[in-house]
Amino acid sequence: MYSDFDVISTYYDALYVKDKEYSLEAAKVKELLTKHGVHLQADLLVLACGTGGHIPYLNDHYHVSGLDLSDDMLTLARKKFPGLRFHLGNLIDFELEMDFDAIICLYGSIGFVKTVDNLRAAMERIAAHLRPDGLVLITPWSTVEDFKDIIVVDAADRPDLKIARMEQVRLKEPKIVEVTFHHLLGKDNNVTYHKQSVEIGLFSRQEYLSAMTDTGLKVVEEYTGTDVRGGAYIGKRVIVDR
Ligand SMILES: C[S@@+](CC[C@H](N)C(=O)[O-])C[C@H]1O[C@@H](n2cnc3c(N)ncnc32)[C@H](O)[C@@H]1O
Repeated sequence: MYSDFDVISTYYDALYVKDKEYSLEAAKVKELLTKHGVHLQADLLVLACGTGGHIPYLNDHYHVSGLDLSDDMLTLARKKFPGLRFHLGNLIDFELEMDFDAIICLYGSIGFVKTVDNLRAAMERIAAHLRPDGLVLITPWSTVEDFKDIIVVDAADRPDLKIARMEQVRLKEPKIVEVTFHHLLGKDNNVTYHKQSVEIGLFSRQEYLSAMTDTGLKVVEEYTGTDVRGGAYIGKRVIVDR
């Protein structure tokens, strides 16, 4: 069973899901979807949706479903959005019984597929679930061209939970980034330490683009604004000879 988020899920929202960041990002994503022809009340699939951090800002405008590989993350999403459908599934081989007008995958979650072959498999699954003229918007987990080793520092301070966060992000192999989380958690007058490493695939811009075009998707925009973390590759399932 997939366990990368079993511990982190318990404080994911407190640490990562910042209302301002997520609302601005979701608003921009909605603007980009509209710009490329996705109508309001369209069927929208949020891939690697996690705890559903973006969903409050999309739910009024679209019929939202989510998919994620982590049961722990999905349990939290289901609790927050009892009326929505969430699927336990893997980006690289998911098979749902319906197609969508738009599919999005945010906060670089696509990098968790790790290899270029898996990136291409995920894109094939996405294309297979898009209706004609359907749109996909994916935010890369950095790129080969842009990546730099970094240490991230941040904190959360709530009455019931305090977190000090450092994350070491380093190139482990030519195309694998290792992120090591060091989290100090203050709760119930007690401080605990959680350390964990995950591996994330680092793909080039061209690998993202050809994964799209090789499945027959047309790249309609490469968005580079900083309000969508990582920018976005946007592709459309264009049907010719109609
Ligand atoms: C950093 S979290 C981002 C969650 C959410 N997109 C957000 O912005 O808050 C990455 C998510 O990707 C999910 N994930 C990792 N590998 C996956 C895979 N192969 N298929 C589907 N989801 C996956 C994890 O379970 C986790 O919920």
